[in-house]
Amino acid sequence: MKKKIVVAISGASGSIYGIRLLKALLNSSVDVYLVISNTGLKVIEHETGHSPGTTPESIRIFLLQQGVSINKNAHLDIFQGDNFFSPVASGSFLHDGMIIAPCSMKTLGAIASGVTDNLISRSADVCLKEKRPLILLTRETPLNKIHLKNMYRAAVAGATIMPPCPGFYFKPETVNDLIDSVVARIMDHVKLDHNLFPRWGEKKSV
Ligand SMILES: Cc1cc2nc3c(=O)[nH]c(=O)nc-3n(C[C@H](O)[C@H](O)[C@H](O)COP(=O)(O)O)c2cc1C
Repeated sequence: MKKKIVVAISGASGSIYGIRLLKALLNSSVDVYLVISNTGLKVIEHETGHSPGTTPESIRIFLLQQGVSINKNAHLDIFQGDNFFSPVASGSFLHDGMIIAPCSMKTLGAIASGVTDNLISRSADVCLKEKRPLILLTRETPLNKIHLKNMYRAAVAGATIMPPCPGFYFKPETVNDLIDSVVARIMDHVKLDHNLFPRWGEKKSV
């Protein structure tokens, strides 16, 4: 069965994680439903030096320019952050999980307290009530007690807290290696095949 994955990019630093995750997902046979928060769009522009614009059409063009290609068996739908009429806002829309990469402390706080005032927090809330995988790539450092409590509350409610902390035991050579090692763990969690880097104990393919 073809997987359906919801991806959200919030306004935390590390928008590249979201972009490389989209690249990996759309390189497989996956239907991707993408939501980017208003601040997420601004941080993407700041971090990449290129504006994604604000419309689904301009965001699609931006992603293609960033090297995200869409496999013939993949599909990408993009929704604006206030579009509560989109399928991902409803529990009746079946999918295989949601990933927020990166996840700001504001979005984490909204999820932990059940405040669903934009499409990202609403879709995450739906994941928790429907018992679907919800992965939060929480990005902030250091963490205050509110952040820690919110992570705990979200985890107790069913979310997977996955701060982007790459391992160094696989001897990364580039920044992309570090990013892909994090994306690889996300792909593992939503049970999608990937070839992003060799697994511990496996030989590097040539
Ligand atoms: C360049 C930039 C980097 C930011 N990095 C972070 C971050 O790493 N973590 C975080 O929690 N907030 C960060 N923020 C602040 C969030 O963007 C802000 O809290 C915003 O309200 C988040 O909204 P959203 O979660 O709806 O996207 C950053 C803001 C800017 C402008």
